[in-house]
Amino acid sequence: MRIVLFGLIASYGALLVSAINYDDVIQAPRRSEATPNKDGTVAVYTETSYSFSTKTWSGSLKKITLSTGDTNTVIANAADVGDIAWAGTDDSSLLYLNSSSSYTSLWSVDVNSGSTSKVYDFSGSVSLLKSHASSQGVRVVTSGWATPDGELLSPDAPPKADTGLLYDSVFVRHWDYWLSENRKAVFGLLLSSDLKTVKEPFTNYLKGLGIESPIMPFPSDSDFDLSDDKLVVNAKAPELSPANNTATYFYVLDYSDSNTPDKPLNKAGLGACSSPVFSPDGSKIAGLVMSENGYESDQNIVYVYELSADGRASSSANVTDGRAFDRSPSSVMWAPDRADYLFLTGEDIGREVVWTLDISTPGRAPVMLSTSHSVSSAAFVGSSSKLLLSSSAIVKSTYFEIYNHDSDSTSLLLEAETVLPESRVGEFWFTGTRDVKVHGFIVYPENFDPKKKYPLAFLIHGGPQSAWTDSWSTRWNPAVWADNGPDGYVVVTINPTGSTGYGKDFTDKIQNNWGSYPYIDLVLGLEYCYKSFDFIDTERMIAAGASYGGYMINWIQGSALGRVFKALVTHDGVFSTLNQYASEELYFPAHDFGGSFVKNTRGYYKYNPMSRMYHWATPHFIVHNALDYRLPESEGILAFNVLQELGVPSKLLHFPDENHWVLKPDNSRRWHKEIFEFINTFSSPSVASKRSEDRKSAAQILEEVAANVEGEIYF
Ligand SMILES: *[C@@H]1O[C@H](CO)[C@@H](O)[C@H](O)[C@H]1NC(C)=O
Ligand SMILES: *[C@@H]1O[C@H](CO)[C@@H](O)[C@H](O)[C@H]1NC(C)=O
Ligand SMILES: *[C@@H]1O[C@H](CO)[C@@H](O)[C@H](O)[C@H]1NC(C)=O
Repeated sequence: MRIVLFGLIASYGALLVSAINYDDVIQAPRRSEATPNKDGTVAVYTETSYSFSTKTWSGSLKKITLSTGDTNTVIANAADVGDIAWAGTDDSSLLYLNSSSSYTSLWSVDVNSGSTSKVYDFSGSVSLLKSHASSQGVRVVTSGWATPDGELLSPDAPPKADTGLLYDSVFVRHWDYWLSENRKAVFGLLLSSDLKTVKEPFTNYLKGLGIESPIMPFPSDSDFDLSDDKLVVNAKAPELSPANNTATYFYVLDYSDSNTPDKPLNKAGLGACSSPVFSPDGSKIAGLVMSENGYESDQNIVYVYELSADGRASSSANVTDGRAFDRSPSSVMWAPDRADYLFLTGEDIGREVVWTLDISTPGRAPVMLSTSHSVSSAAFVGSSSKLLLSSSAIVKSTYFEIYNHDSDSTSLLLEAETVLPESRVGEFWFTGTRDVKVHGFIVYPENFDPKKKYPLAFLIHGGPQSAWTDSWSTRWNPAVWADNGPDGYVVVTINPTGSTGYGKDFTDKIQNNWGSYPYIDLVLGLEYCYKSFDFIDTERMIAAGASYGGYMINWIQGSALGRVFKALVTHDGVFSTLNQYASEELYFPAHDFGGSFVKNTRGYYKYNPMSRMYHWATPHFIVHNALDYRLPESEGILAFNVLQELGVPSKLLHFPDENHWVLKPDNSRRWHKEIFEFINTFSSPSVASKRSEDRKSAAQILEEVAANVEGEIYF
C-alpha cells in the first residue's frame, strides 16, 4: 500500500493515509451497514475484501458491543455470510444467508459464543433477508426467481434444447439480463422461536397475483416489510407495461400463497412508490410516493396509510408537502414504539442527511439532524433516542457513529478503514444558467501546494438526475483521480442542472434540455474554477464521465469546449440520442426527451452528440461493456469508429462480462490502469504543451466559450 502512516486512530485497523491508489481502494475491506439488535446492546456488520494476489474474496461477520464501545470482535470468518437479520427473539441470535453453493441455506449464529447452526435449506438461490419475531415465532422472508407456476427456480432445471427467446411486447431485456418467463417473488417461512422447527412451510406470498417484487434491476429489501400477520410489498403496476411506466403499488398481503389479486393499498394512478414500512404496532404503513407516472426522478412525498382489519387503507395522507419541503427523501422509518414519528434519509446539497418528522401535528416540516458527511443508513439503538449511523465521505470509507438526539450531535463509534485528511476536500458555489447557484466539490491531490500548478480532472456524473455527494465509492472515487495523475490532479465535480438534492425545480429543469442547461452550468463552473483557483494548469485539463456523464463528454467533444481539454473519457455513454430507444426502460427517454421516439422524434434530435461528430478532435478514451442493456455497446463502438476515422488518438476498452458498471475487482483494476495511462499521457507537461502549439490557449478558448455559451446552445 502506498500509504504514509500518520498514526493509528481510536480503533484498530483504521489508517490515516495521505494518498490512495486504485489497488488500495479496490482491495480495502468493504463494510455493510451496521445493524443493532432489538435492545441496542450489540450491532453487527459484514466486511468483505478482495485480494489481487489470491484472486479471492474473504469476509467476516463482526460485532460492536454498544454498551462498552468494544468494536473489533470477529464473530465468524467466512466469505459465504450474505444478508443478515436479527432473529428478534433474544439479544444474540442472528440469521444469515449462506450462499456457498447454488442452493442458499439459512443459518443462525449466536453472536456471543460464535456458534453457528444450519436452520433451513432453500430449494434454490435466494437473496435479501428480513425477519420478524412475534408470539407465533420467527417469520423469515427472502426473495428469489419464481417459475410461472410460482415455485422457486431450481438451479438444476434442465437447459432447453434451443436458446431462442420470442417476445410479443416491449421490455425484452433489463439492465443486464433478457426477460424470461420467470419473475422475482417474495418467499418466506415461519420458524419456532428457538429456530429449531418450521411451523409454516416455505411459501411464495405472491403466488397467482401476477405481480413482481422486489423490483428489478436493483432488488432491495426495502421493497417489502413485515408485521405480525401481514406483509407489505412494492410491485410495479401489473396492468401497465413496465417499459414505459414507473407506477408501482403497495400490496398488503397475508402470509399465504392464496392472496387475492388486484387489491393494492394505494392504487391511485401515482408514479413510482418505494420503502413501505409498518409502524411498530402494525396499524399504519409509511412509504414514499411519486406523483408522476413515467418519471423515475420525481420528488418522493411521504405518505401514511391507516390500515383497517382487512389490510385495506382506511385513510391515506401525504405527511410531507412537496412545496413546503423541497427535498426527495430516499428512505423512511418509524421511531421505535411510536406511530406518530418518522425518520427520513435523503440527499441535501451534496450530502445524505437524516430528518425527523412529527406526524401527530399536521403540517409540521421535517427537521434535519446534525450528522457528518453522508449517512447511508440509520438504525435505532434499542428504544433510546440514539441512532446508529453508517456513513462515509469523499475522504473516508464506511464508518459508524452514534447520533444523540438530546444533544443533536454525533460521536465516533468505529473509524473507517481508509481515512484521508479532511483538508483534501473543499466546496464552492457559482452562478449557473438561469442565475441559479450551482454547487461543486474540489478534491486536492496529496501534498497539495496552492502555489504550484496542477492538471485538472473534471468529472461529470451520470443519471442525469443524480449527484456527486460527499461519500465513498470504489468506482469513480474523486480522491483516486486526485492521487493517480503524474503530479496528482485537482479534481472538480459539479452538480449542474438536473442534479438531485437541490430541490425539485433544479432536478426537473433538465427535461428536454440535456445539452443546454447542464452544459452551460458546466462551462460556467469550469470558468469559475479557472478564474478562482490559480493552482489549475488550464493547459493540462482532462474531462471524464459515465452514462449521462459520457453523453456530456461526447457533447463537449463536438463543441468548442472540447478543445480546452487534453483528453476525454466516455464510460458507457450516449453517442446518438436516437439510440436511447434501443434502451429498456423506455419511460426514461420518453420523459427526458418529451415523448416517445415515434410521437416526438424531434425531441431525440435536439441535443444529439452525433450531430456534432465532425468537430471531434480531442484524444478520447472510450469504455463500453457488453452487458450494458441500458446503453447498448454499439454506442461506444460507433464513437470509437468515428474517432479512428477522424484520426483522433483514441482507445476502446471493452469488458464482455460487465454491465453499465465495472464491478469485478480485476476488471476495475484494468479500467483504472488503462484510463490513467491514457489521460496521464495527454496531460503530461511535455505532451500537453506540444498539443497546444499553434492553437489558442485553453484559457482563451474557455473564455470565448463561456462568454457565448447561452447563444451557442440555442442554435
Ligand atoms: C456455509 O455452508 C457450507 C455448506 O453447508 C458450510 O460448509 C459452511 O461452513 C457454511 N458457512 C457458514 C459461515 O455458515
Ligand atoms: C407503452 O408501450 C406500448 C407498446 O409499445 C404502447 O402501446 C403505449 O402507447 C405506450 N404507452 C406510453 C404511455 O407511451
Ligand atoms: C400534500 O398535502 C397538502 C395539504 O396537506 C396539499 O396542499 C398538497 O398539495 C399535497 N402535496 C402533494 C404533493 O401531494
